[in-house]
Amino acid sequence: MKITVVGAGAVGATCADNIARKELAEELILLDIREGFAEGKAIDIMQTSAILGFDTKVKGVTNDYAATSNSEVVVITSGLPRKPGMTREELIGTNAGIVKSVTESILKYSPNTIIIVVSNPMDTMNYLTLKTSGLPKNRILGMGGALDSSRFKYYLSQELGCSPADLNAVVIGGHGDTTMIPLIKHATWNSVPVTEFLSQEQQDKIVAATMVGGATLTKLIGTSAWYAPGAGTMAMVESIVRDEKKLISCGVALDGEYGQQDISLVVPVVLGKGGWEKIVNFKLSDAEQEQFDKSADAVRNMNQVLYD
Ligand code: NAI
Repeated sequence: MKITVVGAGAVGATCADNIARKELAEELILLDIREGFAEGKAIDIMQTSAILGFDTKVKGVTNDYAATSNSEVVVITSGLPRKPGMTREELIGTNAGIVKSVTESILKYSPNTIIIVVSNPMDTMNYLTLKTSGLPKNRILGMGGALDSSRFKYYLSQELGCSPADLNAVVIGGHGDTTMIPLIKHATWNSVPVTEFLSQEQQDKIVAATMVGGATLTKLIGTSAWYAPGAGTMAMVESIVRDEKKLISCGVALDGEYGQQDISLVVPVVLGKGGWEKIVNFKLSDAEQEQFDKSADAVRNMNQVLYD
């Protein structure tokens, strides 16, 4: 098994580190445009292997796509991250060019790979990759829901005083501060609806905190987060390469599901060796469906920028 991570920055290197520790691949290529950067990060990760005891071979390269040939999964994290006060949407101009050219270069050497897009604004970057690659739609996935759902569980756990791991909670819609939809009415704690334990005020607070979860960290750290994004991406890679069939919220092309088409949005999917294998249709209330449609409108407007 060979995996490539493009972009050796904060998210890419953390994702590579997680993949190596879990031994999800025999060979992991870390690629960056910055001379020597990926090489350095790869050597640093490899120098933890004697301590942590993993056997994945991590190799860093500077823009050498031949080294990525025959990768079964490729993660794209290349692009600018946001600074405090910026929205993910403001990154579109620069990142669209980067994501498009990276996708084209990857496909020259791994024409049948599965691509996970992390670069922001993720919904639009994933849609762009779908259109650029010509790959079957099941092989293109956006990472955003894995992260946002984990943040949602974190905020729920803070209020409930329980472990995030005991919660089932899902975020759908877009991967933006105003477009994501934490489905609090569907969230459970050991199979009991969390709404049984939380006042309306607490529920509203949790949903609001989840939606600006990324911006809160950007303000604290000075740039966007990397531990949870790296872990969320690794979880997607793991479910694919181990064919685990995990149910994870991912950005995927919709073709009538949730009443939308010709768009990439975050919905729960079953992830296995073919990429996403099934879209799971939550039964949304009228209010939730209305929110989903509004998010779709906002993402569709953003996608239009690609053609302007
Ligand atoms: P970073 O700045 O630490 O790393 C980005 C890396 O991409 C840099 O090392 C840069 O040299 C490299 N790069 C730029 N152009 C390239 C090209 N053409 N080819 C190869 N490498 C190239 O940024 P960070 O924090 O790792 O974030 C990466 C992206 O992921 C950003 O767009 C950020 O907004 C996004 N992100 C998405 C999340 C999600 O949930 N979808 C969560 C966190 C970040």
